[in-house]
Amino acid sequence: MSNRTKPGIVQIPTISNELGNISIVEKINPFPFQIKRVYYIHGVSKGAVRGSHAHKNLNQLIIAVSGQFVVRLHDGVNEQKFSLDSPAKGLFVPPGYWRTLEEFTLGSAAMVLASAEYDETDYIRDYEEFLQWKK
Ligand code: TYD
Repeated sequence: MSNRTKPGIVQIPTISNELGNISIVEKINPFPFQIKRVYYIHGVSKGAVRGSHAHKNLNQLIIAVSGQFVVRLHDGVNEQKFSLDSPAKGLFVPPGYWRTLEEFTLGSAAMVLASAEYDETDYIRDYEEFLQWKK
């Protein structure tokens, strides 16, 4: 579980030298939720919009490990737009946000660190149902 309740960009500790960069996510760094699952989205078709769902309990950290893309988060009232363009930052997404991932550049990849194993019952895939659930 996370103590954070608001979405936002977190800096991922990154060690750089003349050979390149290494970014590290571990335990409470950069923030506290226990990682139970990692998946990554890659080879996204041109113009494709991924996501289009909300989670009831899942915390996630979304990282553009390659290329860039846009994440839109909607809380039922307001929308926030985040551009992810660096493997050294991540977007923390708490439960209860309708999300879309879009505008993927060619060859980009989204790595997602998640607080729970895959559970279809945690998904809300219908936007009207999401709005009702938020009330
Ligand atoms: P989904 O979460 O809907 O993809 P996205 O929101 O990125 O477009 O998942 C796509 C499919 O993959 C769906 O059939 C569920 C399955 N899936 C798993 O089996 N395990 C997982 O950990 C994830 C993330 C998806």
